[in-house]
Amino acid sequence: MQIQENISLKPYNTFAIDVTAKYFSSFTSTDELAELFLFDEAKRTLPVLILGGGSNILFTQNYNGLVAKNELKGITLIKENAEHNYVKCAAGENWHAFVMHCIDNNYAGLENLSLIPGNVGASPMQNIGAYGVEIKDVFYELEAWDTKDRKLVNFSKSDCEFGYRESVFKHKYKSRFVITSVTFQLNKKPVFNTSYGAIQEELQKMQVAEPSIKAISQAVINIRQSKLPDPKVIGNAGSFFKNPTIKNAQFEQLKTSFPGIVGYTVNSEQVKVAAGWLIEHCNWKSYRKGDAGCHAKQALVLVNYDNAKGDEILTLSTEIMNSVEKKFGIILEREVNII
Ligand code: FAD
Ligand code: EPU
Repeated sequence: MQIQENISLKPYNTFAIDVTAKYFSSFTSTDELAELFLFDEAKRTLPVLILGGGSNILFTQNYNGLVAKNELKGITLIKENAEHNYVKCAAGENWHAFVMHCIDNNYAGLENLSLIPGNVGASPMQNIGAYGVEIKDVFYELEAWDTKDRKLVNFSKSDCEFGYRESVFKHKYKSRFVITSVTFQLNKKPVFNTSYGAIQEELQKMQVAEPSIKAISQAVINIRQSKLPDPKVIGNAGSFFKNPTIKNAQFEQLKTSFPGIVGYTVNSEQVKVAAGWLIEHCNWKSYRKGDAGCHAKQALVLVNYDNAKGDEILTLSTEIMNSVEKKFGIILEREVNII
């Protein structure tokens, strides 16, 4: 394990923001991880940032601490019963490669979550979700290293307090635990989730008569590639904001002025509103100032066309939030972690 100094983080974040880390190292075992947390023991002043694929992060300044890149590897089928396979995946595995591994082995349940960038270890952080599925639907348990008590601990599903793009690791336990592996409970007999209209349309386009986990995965990949920018081409971190939840009465009121507004029923009292629609209707879609912009095919995605600074993207996000609040009376919340 080698600790490097003044390393550019540009290759390590999908926004491609060019900041430096004062110290940088990767870890391939929990022993190395434990060692890294002793790195600054004498001074105890430097923070440590655990980095996966850097696909949900916006760096707004140089990182005056140690960036520790997770390289824990390994996928194991730990147990099975008549209905389920329990698959344990090390946190440093690439998420999409893991999903493909599961599909190849007929472990069903992750197919709707194909092509999400990043690593397995970050997936519980915000309970990643797409096309009608969230990881909480297939989550069994995780193992994490406690930076305070310096030992490995297990978290069950209820311990994680999953919500929409939420978990205990973003709040009560922010920065305390390093997730080292995640175990998923995957189905032997697939339960297809094609509730998201676009999947059904895409399956028809693909002329798939009988759905399979592989076909659903391919449909999701096709849909995602048609509207989400590839970070290798244009820097971005996916949806920059969460879809806001508002009261039914406010939604009904908004519909009288904006009949096209898009919302989904959450429960008898609340509606989740499509933030992309709100942002588009504040005329931000395709906006560009310098190298910071709002994607032309998906207004919820902010982009770095080339050399934007993190604070230019952050300023743009604040302007968008202000305009959405002014026009619709809705306060957007950022999904991306601002560092
Ligand atoms: P990073 O960006 O490296 O880290 C994110 C946060 O988690 C940071 O605070 C980091 O310190 C912390 N962290 C990372 N690993 C660990 C660990 N092992 N232990 C403790 N803390 C850790 N998200 C969705 O939910 N649904 C989508 O459909 C989706 N689509 C996307 C599309 C694109 C094009 C892009 C660029 C992003 C998309 N995202 C989506 C967001 C992102 O891919 C996910 O949030 C992903 O899980 C982030 O993983 P990462 O390894 O890149 O995390
Ligand atoms: N819309 C617009 N204009 C836009 C963008 C979207 O009107 O510019 C409308 C669409 O027409 C559609 C609705 O908004 O009616 C929803 O759009 P879409 O299906 O693209 O999904 P989203 O709500 O924008 C969410 C997630 C994505 C996830 C997709 C698919 C959040 C914050 N985002 O996006 O997750 O992949 O659904 O399930 O919940 C991410 O978290 O990074 C992410 C990409």
